[in-house]
Amino acid sequence: MCGIFGMIGDSNTTKLLMQGLKRMEYRGYDSSGICIVDNNEFIRRRAVGELSNLEPLVVNLPNAECGIAHTRWATHGPPTEDNAHPHMSPKLDVAVVHNGIIENEVELRKELSSIDKNIIFKSDTDSEIIAHLLSNEIKNSGLDLKKSKDEEFISCWKKVIDKLEGSFALAVILKGRNDFILFARKFAPLVISHDGNKGILASDVSCIVGITDKVHYLEEGDWGLINKNGLKIFNIDGDLVEKEPKKLEWTLGDAELGGYPTFMLKEIYEQPRVVRDCLRGRLSREKIKGVSIPFNPRLLRIVGCGTAYNAGLLARYYIEQLSKIPVILDHAHEFRYGAPSGPKSLVIGISQSGETADTLAAIQAAHERGYPTLGIVNVESSTIARNVDTMIGIRAGPEIGVASTKAFTGQVLGGLLVAMKLGQDSKNFHREDLSYFDRHARMLPTSIERMLNDQNIKTKLWEAQQYFVDKNHAFFLGRNTSYPIALEGALKLKEISYIHAEGYAGGELKHGPLALVEEGTPIVVIASEGSSHKKLLGNAREVAARGAKVILITHQEDELADSHADLVIKVPRTHDLLQPLLYNIICQLLSLNIAEERGCNVDRPRNLAKSVTVE
Ligand code: M6R
Repeated sequence: MCGIFGMIGDSNTTKLLMQGLKRMEYRGYDSSGICIVDNNEFIRRRAVGELSNLEPLVVNLPNAECGIAHTRWATHGPPTEDNAHPHMSPKLDVAVVHNGIIENEVELRKELSSIDKNIIFKSDTDSEIIAHLLSNEIKNSGLDLKKSKDEEFISCWKKVIDKLEGSFALAVILKGRNDFILFARKFAPLVISHDGNKGILASDVSCIVGITDKVHYLEEGDWGLINKNGLKIFNIDGDLVEKEPKKLEWTLGDAELGGYPTFMLKEIYEQPRVVRDCLRGRLSREKIKGVSIPFNPRLLRIVGCGTAYNAGLLARYYIEQLSKIPVILDHAHEFRYGAPSGPKSLVIGISQSGETADTLAAIQAAHERGYPTLGIVNVESSTIARNVDTMIGIRAGPEIGVASTKAFTGQVLGGLLVAMKLGQDSKNFHREDLSYFDRHARMLPTSIERMLNDQNIKTKLWEAQQYFVDKNHAFFLGRNTSYPIALEGALKLKEISYIHAEGYAGGELKHGPLALVEEGTPIVVIASEGSSHKKLLGNAREVAARGAKVILITHQEDELADSHADLVIKVPRTHDLLQPLLYNIICQLLSLNIAEERGCNVDRPRNLAKSVTVE
């Protein structure tokens, strides 16, 4: 998604803005731009495509003290230079960068055109209108760009914000005014920071790491002005608010590769640490600690998107198995526009970023319907984390690769903690069950480490990837708790290798998908537990009989496996509830290897963004 970065008061602003844009590359973008205030003028540079196209355009820019920058992920109009931010007013006195969507753009354009029939919009974007509106407001209020005071611009800015419907994070600068930046946020993330000399605002904390370690997280509807001396934050009602800065969750190491060739690989290898951190202080032999369930629910609803949805599906199996409480799982975007009925239920929102627009809206919809909410979130300062009634932080650390890997592991563990807690509360999951689980959970990080360094597994993965590299379609099959892994495995493969991949529950094969299996179709079968495992092996036979190349991922104690696949990858045996996590890591590695062999950029897959902050 788009990224915003603005700086004031540092003589290295141009260089730092470019560094910030580089750090936000992982979010996904297709054009970029920068605008600085130099003496009495704006200097703006924009480019389509990679940041390397913008870099040569900024090398000779002066070292301004005030500027804004943007990476754009096209929504309104194609990725062209005209559509790239910053956008300017016709008089070239206002420059704006915007994340989000202005939903009443058409009405606002009409309103402006009725005032000035000759008005020309230079872009297809909804964002440009904001520069026009502010420029008009400044003119109508009779302000002088050079002489008027901050307060006067603040009141113009408020009038503009009040006209905007939709979602936005905004940073605005004015021609000849290198002494302040105006900002606002509504349903789109924005953080600001001030160290007494310089101010920073950004949609993503990755830009800020290394410059400062304290930030203010803005609330919905906050807006204001940041200048060289400090900042003024107003809430949605226009009241000045005092906020304590918070310590940044990121470190410089998080924003860098640390010797790994890609962030995706780095994050896959971080999973032993994620397991340790996520369970620390929460799991013991006797009870689940630090997980508070807002009330005693008779029904649970889980919402999430993409990988978070897949983790939610696994959580559903766990919760129903351990607590016997029924669970309904929805894509967050379906839930938000649905009309859920039935008993008052606990709504669990799962989100790595905590900023996914649909998941946030689903949480808000839950509140409106009077349902208590629980978030399973990675970024603990995020909007979702701050909006839910109670939160479980998965402690995965910043995830930069667009393909979610370590967050899935954390999300599943978060779901498992909820399931065990509900199971204990409902007396369906007993102390001895927990003690047995705890023993295995303590060994899990070591099992993952062993698996990641296992030469035999590496060789098998290499052999497996040969089945895929020249193929356009692949399938992943699972049953029961391995079905979510099949969905997640397919999602990972399609998003980074561009091979069309689908995950199915094995029982569904004969109801349609079997028609797609032909000679050489690669099919990954992910072992399940109990009686469904044999059924799944039967599915493996069915697809093999139709020429498929079957790769079976299972554990070391599975004796049936070898006769059921062209290639078997065996991982360490662990507790049934944890076993899917190991299978999933193998799927992550398989997708990564295939994507790299096909020459794809695994950290920045085409058309995708790390955090989907618009609908
Ligand atoms: O930040 P979230 O967990 O809310 O993100 C949800 C999805 O957008 C995300 O998991 C997406 O599907 C990933 N690219 C998958 O790897």
